[in-house]
Amino acid sequence: MAYLLSTENFEKIGEFIYRKSGISLDVEKHYEKLAKYIDKRAAELGFDNFRKYFFKLRFDDKDGSEFQELMNAMTVNETYFFREKEQFEVLANSILPELHAKMPANKPLRILSSPCSTGEEPYSMILHILEEGKVVEERDIEVVGIDIDSTVIQKAKASKYTERSVHAIPKPILNQWFQKKGLGYEISEDLQGSVDFQVCNVFDKTQMRKLGKFDVIFSRNMLIYFDDASRKEVAMTFYDMLNPGGYVLLGHAEYMSRIVSVFKAKKVDTTLIYQK
Ligand SMILES: C[S@@+](CC[C@H](N)C(=O)[O-])C[C@H]1O[C@@H](n2cnc3c(N)ncnc32)[C@H](O)[C@@H]1O
Repeated sequence: MAYLLSTENFEKIGEFIYRKSGISLDVEKHYEKLAKYIDKRAAELGFDNFRKYFFKLRFDDKDGSEFQELMNAMTVNETYFFREKEQFEVLANSILPELHAKMPANKPLRILSSPCSTGEEPYSMILHILEEGKVVEERDIEVVGIDIDSTVIQKAKASKYTERSVHAIPKPILNQWFQKKGLGYEISEDLQGSVDFQVCNVFDKTQMRKLGKFDVIFSRNMLIYFDDASRKEVAMTFYDMLNPGGYVLLGHAEYMSRIVSVFKAKKVDTTLIYQK
């Protein structure tokens, strides 16, 4: 059966998605996923061709809900607790004590998880900060988690996780901070509400500015979906959002030196961190 989406139109909608989200789609890798989604969505809307769907997406989507549906279908949300855990250790044992010592006493320390997917990353930060213990007793710490995909933000707010998602958490920490519920795990009530989860597109300057300034930004495993120009734009947005002396941490396969040269790279143990 032929799809409504031709390869020619794949280029057009690919360009539209790129402009709005920075996500760079490749016909070889993504054609089938996008074509299946458009067939399903067009049928739900009662459309029998791609043109009608694309018209709606571009010109009849004032509240952005059609674009949101498309984003929710196309993003890759893979994540789990304690993923690349050395970075959480560096955050809790090195970055936060350093920033805490330098900052005025009454100022909260603000951390952004961008993107946070279903919430495992910002909760992993909090679990490590609690384990370290010292800074959190003396300083207000605010953690904000953002993602372009509204379904993952809904899941993050519900804070219910699968066995797979918690597999890397050491048992004592799992037992202390999670409750087994049916086949999965629920994060303890004490921790629920400790992260401010919001739907936000890193390319939307107005949304990003509203989040305020941060001392640390984690941006792991998102830039890999962007091209060089988009990576550069996002890196500069993070630079603007950081307080002086603040840090950015990227995923293991991502290097700031290949994107922009405004940050100072430092190595803590085996972990690269980037300072403003
Ligand atoms: C693979 S997950 C990474 C989650 C987590 N940082 C980690 O490393 O485990 C990538 C996330 O990036 C989000 N994303 C993609 N483009 C985005 C954009 N323009 N703004 C905000 N989030 C975006 C996706 O929705 C997805 O949840």
